[in-house]
Amino acid sequence: MTESSYDEVAAMYHALWANSYIPAALPALERLFYCRLAPPAHVLDVCCGSGHVTSDLVKRGYRVTGVDSSAALIEIARRELPQADLRVQDVRRLEVEGPYGGALSTFDSLNHILSLEDLHAVFSGVYEALGPGGLFVFDMNLEEAYSLDLHQWLVNIGHNSVGLSRGLYDPVTHMAHTELIWFTQTGSQDCWQRRQSIVEERCYEKQDIVQALQFAWFRSIEVHPAVELSVESEFGHGRYFFSARR
Ligand SMILES: C[S@@+](CC[C@H](N)C(=O)[O-])C[C@H]1O[C@@H](n2cnc3c(N)ncnc32)[C@H](O)[C@@H]1O
Repeated sequence: MTESSYDEVAAMYHALWANSYIPAALPALERLFYCRLAPPAHVLDVCCGSGHVTSDLVKRGYRVTGVDSSAALIEIARRELPQADLRVQDVRRLEVEGPYGGALSTFDSLNHILSLEDLHAVFSGVYEALGPGGLFVFDMNLEEAYSLDLHQWLVNIGHNSVGLSRGLYDPVTHMAHTELIWFTQTGSQDCWQRRQSIVEERCYEKQDIVQALQFAWFRSIEVHPAVELSVESEFGHGRYFFSARR
């Protein structure tokens, strides 16, 4: 297993972002996923990160398997959710038992899949993991979302931490880079540890995503702009939710 760009900044991701997505995305998840698949269905959380959405699924009574390529994020998730089945795994080569009633991939995780060929591989793996009629819901950012990147550092100051982040988007290559720097105070007051990483994402055309789903044999494909599902604040801008069935 290769290292993930999230490993070095896993604590920063967990502290700064994990708790902001779900309150904003909830109306979309309610309408496309929770209303369509009742607990205790078995759900595959594709790119589960530190388990923020996973924990919402567990609280609602679903049986959950979460997979993510970052060992450090999975370690945090396992600490918080000892009852869930959480695995370090690259979703481009999914190896899960199934069949699952549903699969969910949130917070633009699939934009982290950097080629269309790999996106095909993820969709095929999810298709194979689902039972007949199984539901697959995910969100991805399209170009409008990345055009918000203003190259400016966002600063987040906590009690004993400082997080800095900035996004850079190249409209020619369709690649986005998020630079993350995380200072944490260690031991004595004057001693700070610095960690940093660059997370890469790829921006796809809506049509390419739909075709990749069709190529993997998904049916009943729906595409919804997040804003039309009442996803507010910056989480709605340029984000689209996709729903499909095996
Ligand atoms: C923005 S985070 C979202 C995490 C989680 N879904 C959430 O809603 O909080 C993107 C996640 O995708 C994971 N990821 C990126 N590429 C991956 C891959 N090839 N296989 C598995 N996980 C991957 C990262 O490790 C990270 O946890």
